[in-house]
Amino acid sequence: MKRLAVLTSGGDAPGMNAAVRAVVRCAIGRGIEALGVRNGYSGLMSGDFRPLGRRDVGGIIQLGGTVLGTSRNPRFRTEEGQAEAIAQLRAREVDSLIVIGGNGSQSGAHGLDQHGMPVVGIASTIDNDLAGTDITLGATTAVDVALQAIDSLRVTAAAMRRAFLVEVMGRHCGYLAVAAGIAGGAESIVLPEVDASPAQVAAELAASYARGKSHAIGVIAEGARYDADQILAYLKEHRDSLGFDVRMTRLGHIQRGGSPGAFDRLLGSLFGAAAVGAAAAGRRGVLIGMRGGDIAETPLSEVAGRTKPADARLIALAHTLAQ
Ligand code: F6P
Repeated sequence: MKRLAVLTSGGDAPGMNAAVRAVVRCAIGRGIEALGVRNGYSGLMSGDFRPLGRRDVGGIIQLGGTVLGTSRNPRFRTEEGQAEAIAQLRAREVDSLIVIGGNGSQSGAHGLDQHGMPVVGIASTIDNDLAGTDITLGATTAVDVALQAIDSLRVTAAAMRRAFLVEVMGRHCGYLAVAAGIAGGAESIVLPEVDASPAQVAAELAASYARGKSHAIGVIAEGARYDADQILAYLKEHRDSLGFDVRMTRLGHIQRGGSPGAFDRLLGSLFGAAAVGAAAAGRRGVLIGMRGGDIAETPLSEVAGRTKPADARLIALAHTLAQ
């Protein structure tokens, strides 16, 4: 193999830069040229490539976001978009493309591979909802960011004997909410995977005051059936009978922008090295992830179009610990 290209796609995730750095340096270490594609599939279709050397990826491992830029481009899902992308790669004699991204990005990667362009994916999204991996690049740092917010909110909540709702990201997966809820000691955790009515959340928060606490924290996943706005409205409406006041904080994209923690820097480095190893060995159409503590390869055909819910054991534990 002579040349590979690497891109980051979809929602940026802390640790993407560590993966880009590892891809470039491991490729060069094997005598393979590395090209970076700017702005994900948009740059792939328009031909926005640049050669990357060892020093071009220096000083980036600690940075959140992605130095390559990223995008969500619906045009890439069309036959024309895929054909343009493949033409750009062939014009540059790229032997393999490495796609660092989440669900939609890996479905796109699968499409490219099926159209004849060898692709290796790297599992990266803060949502941790990709099949084929226990943990995705960026999720751990996103949980840490949510946790810092929860710890801060608990301080003001306790000072004023208030309840707080904290809405976290995760799209249709409750991983971020359940992980941040357990680690942050939340009294109520609301997930897309388990229906919880506003009345149930109110009862869980009220129970924590009844147990003598001076505050109550509810972590609400953005994809839950009853979202944070609906639960907030219910709690405000029943404020007098419940006996506590409530505020809501929506963390939103703040969770995406953290500086990657040690785990995500390491994971990005391991995933990047494994992706180059797979491509150099002629393997294609696979997603690099981690299963049972080891680097694992899963066919993209088993990943594309599927999502993974939050781990049922974490959900059960969250319920036990919130009592
Ligand atoms: O997939 C990552 C993610 O941050 C989700 O948690 C969230 O629902 C979505 O992306 C937000 O997308 P955008 O950045 O396009 O608003």
